[in-house]
Amino acid sequence: MDQKILHYLKELKEYGIKNNIPNVTEAGGEFLNNLIKTKFPKNILEIGCANGYSTIWMAEAAKSVGAKVYAIDHSIPSMAEAKNNLMESGLQDYVDFTFDDAIKAVSKFPQDLMFDFVFVDGEKRKYLDFWNAIQSRLSAKAVVVFDDMIKFPEKTKSFSDAVESIEGFDKVLLPIDSDDGILLLTKSDQFPISNFQFPMNF
Ligand SMILES: C[S@@+](CC[C@H](N)C(=O)[O-])C[C@H]1O[C@@H](n2cnc3c(N)ncnc32)[C@H](O)[C@@H]1O
Repeated sequence: MDQKILHYLKELKEYGIKNNIPNVTEAGGEFLNNLIKTKFPKNILEIGCANGYSTIWMAEAAKSVGAKVYAIDHSIPSMAEAKNNLMESGLQDYVDFTFDDAIKAVSKFPQDLMFDFVFVDGEKRKYLDFWNAIQSRLSAKAVVVFDDMIKFPEKTKSFSDAVESIEGFDKVLLPIDSDDGILLLTKSDQFPISNFQFPMNF
């Protein structure tokens, strides 16, 4: 990855820690970046971009695979910071920002806009609502990533409870940075996810 972007991400991570911005960990960002570079999605959706730290990780990968990130947040200051940070990173052309509640925003996207990759990092108690909102927007090769599934067991419980009954997806909970926990849902006919090392089955 471009050293200038890596340096910018480092600074942004430090800023986030100092200012209590709940950005993904560096390992989480790298994971998203690598997964996009492996899966070659065209349209990427982010629910909850905050100040754009995770968005930059994904936009850098989007640039290399010819994709676009559709990033949503309902916070005015976060959205302003995210737009500024994407400009500073030079990756603004790979991101389309929507300021709105994510569920409303998804319903307002053009009917033919389907997503191959979704990163869900909005309000934890709404994970099940987010899942319900995106289901009809997932392409045949979709990968969906939910952050913080280990870190916030109470807040994510309604979604965790529902995961077992989700059909047509391989599911794996990855202890990225041990405490956060990323849940990966992959359309079942995609790469053999059962080969992953740390399956914690729902
Ligand atoms: C954990 S932070 C996101 C951090 C960001 N993904 C990163 O790693 O840099 C959660 C963000 O989701 C936004 N959010 C929460 N619920 C939302 C909703 N229903 N619609 C849109 N944005 C939402 C919040 O405003 C906040 O900025």
